[in-house]
Amino acid sequence: MQLLNGTACSQKIRQEIALEVEAIVAAGKRPPHLAAVLVGDDGASQNYVGMKVRDCEEVGFGSTMVRMKASTTEAELLAKIDELNSNDAIDGFIVQLPLPSQINENNVILAIDPKKDVDGFCPENVGNLSLGLPTFVPATPNGIMELLRRYEIETEGKHCVVLGRSNIVGTPIAVLMSRNTNPGNATVTLAHSRTKNLKALCASADILIVAIGRTEFLTADMVKDGAVVIDVGQTRVPDNTRKSGFRNVGDVDFEQVKDKCSYITFVTGGVGPMTRASLLQNTLKAYQRR
Ligand code: GUN
Repeated sequence: MQLLNGTACSQKIRQEIALEVEAIVAAGKRPPHLAAVLVGDDGASQNYVGMKVRDCEEVGFGSTMVRMKASTTEAELLAKIDELNSNDAIDGFIVQLPLPSQINENNVILAIDPKKDVDGFCPENVGNLSLGLPTFVPATPNGIMELLRRYEIETEGKHCVVLGRSNIVGTPIAVLMSRNTNPGNATVTLAHSRTKNLKALCASADILIVAIGRTEFLTADMVKDGAVVIDVGQTRVPDNTRKSGFRNVGDVDFEQVKDKCSYITFVTGGVGPMTRASLLQNTLKAYQRR
């Protein structure tokens, strides 16, 4: 079993980006700038957005953290998005999801200028992804593809089972893995809560990408010997032995599954840091396109 080390891989990507930023600044130009909007005070979201902003500082990007109260109305958030769309100093921005229940997520995504949509969530970018046209690939799927690419994992002709059909991870990674690219060219099954015979289906997979949002859902009996297992889950579970009072648990029962795998990711040093690095890549792309 080999661990897919997202921490090390993402560090390399950040170093590559930092070098590009150095060259930009040496040429007398301003560095790329990312804004992140955080509505409310969900602990996990605060943590993610805080890390995204710190990543920007590390590679030399400018960054703006926009904090809005939990009672923010949809109209107030849409007004903020308008402002960010027309602010020339900002190359790209994200609105951290999920949003408080009084705000319709779709209306928010539709309001973001596709050229600044570094999450790749708006219809134009999702459409471009489906068509194989230049786009902002959503950060988590992009991070997974980058891990497979950098570890030179063979995907062509393999059976890839994706667990979970979210717009953020499951659906776009299924598209990417089935595309005529390397990595890619896999035969993909997109499985979800209504899928029948899930155990047998998973056990037939050469590559399992698990993004179902249920802790330690994937157990050893669902994994074929030699499979590649990518764990996208990251759920906070109370843990009194930690200073923070919680630990992050993935969707894969790592201890049970690891010895059956050829490659596996670990939560939190696998997909998480690759997701963050991908957001930086998209922000650089947004800057270069302008
Ligand atoms: N919430 C969980 N993942 C993401 C992400 O990639 N982008 C945004 N904006 N919100 C998220």
